[in-house]
Amino acid sequence: MTYLFPNYARKPFEIVTGLGLTVTDNQGKEYLDFTSGIGVVNLGHHHPAVEQALAEQARQLWHMPNLYENHLQEEVAQALVGELGYVGFFCNSGAEANEAAIKLVRKARGKSKIVTFQHSFHGRTYGAMSATGQASIHAGFAPLVPDFHYGVYNDFDSLALVDEEVAGVMVEVIQGEGGVIVAEEAWLQALARRCQEVGALLVIDEVQTGMGRTGSLFAFQQFGIEPDIFTLAKGLGNGFPVGAMFGKGELAASFGPGSHGSTFGGNKLAMAVALAVVKTMQAPDFFPQVAQVSQQLAKGLQELRAPKLCEVRGRGLMWGLEFSDQEELLRVMAAAEAKGLLTLRAGEKVLRLLPALTITPAEVTQGLSILADVL
Ligand SMILES: Cc1ncc(COP(=O)(O)O)c(C=O)c1O
Repeated sequence: MTYLFPNYARKPFEIVTGLGLTVTDNQGKEYLDFTSGIGVVNLGHHHPAVEQALAEQARQLWHMPNLYENHLQEEVAQALVGELGYVGFFCNSGAEANEAAIKLVRKARGKSKIVTFQHSFHGRTYGAMSATGQASIHAGFAPLVPDFHYGVYNDFDSLALVDEEVAGVMVEVIQGEGGVIVAEEAWLQALARRCQEVGALLVIDEVQTGMGRTGSLFAFQQFGIEPDIFTLAKGLGNGFPVGAMFGKGELAASFGPGSHGSTFGGNKLAMAVALAVVKTMQAPDFFPQVAQVSQQLAKGLQELRAPKLCEVRGRGLMWGLEFSDQEELLRVMAAAEAKGLLTLRAGEKVLRLLPALTITPAEVTQGLSILADVL
């Protein structure tokens, strides 16, 4: 008997505690968590600075609406974008951040046409779902929000879709849910140029790739492009629900008072947590350490050999292992879980690994050895 909708295919056990990358289920079994709660707990479970920020704010004030000044929102936005020339809007999830971006694009450009890409994932609300280029996610929910057009990712011919009618283009730098598909730098740069030529706004969905996941605070920083708008969620709150949309300062006038909003967005608790997350990532040795463990993981994964393992791809601490068939993917996931390694699936037949950025070299070795065993 369950009181819940069966919309999630849940595992028959519950994780009840976590520390760093180690989580424990309700039977007392320990696992090495290479999922970070689907790319959320980027600083690991039970992170002391984040926990302390939440506890302190919880004792002071939980919530006041966006009718009043909020210095924490200002501080988080400043910490995230510094002098890059963006202004921010806070919400509660990735889908909401993308909804805000879609609305801003249409309002700023006064046009409706938006180009996104096949195999993309932008969220489950109507706008974000309509932006998502996957028929299986649309199934049964017609009519979708109109005027979304889906190009082929990494395909130069698809750039022709971006014409003078287009208000904006929304794209992931690495398609996460779609199968850990990394954009080709030259293609992404050509897409950015094409947007500039026709006056379309370039929106980078950094919900999964952002907050250090690929080895820099935002993934777009590694691809030589500068979006007009980008969105964040997942790792921004390390498990506390929060999302954000940033847009170039010149777009500010398009989101004037009353144009968009959220009751909870930028809530004091969420902002206190987000500030602690960003500050932790800004410590001088943080990203150099991420680079070290990323290299170790990348090398180890690329050395894995198995008859049905076709490709290993990714950046930073976001990796996909593509198998020749789904049966093998599911076998590998189940066997890894039995041996105490939690992994994720992406696309049809890709094993996705999103360990916390705080993973130690010993944990990288442990995860690799379980994978090698299982393969
Ligand atoms: C790239 C991307 N965009 C948007 C979303 C939606 O985020 P949320 O589930 O917080 O609404 C996700 C979630 O997986 C994502 O990976």
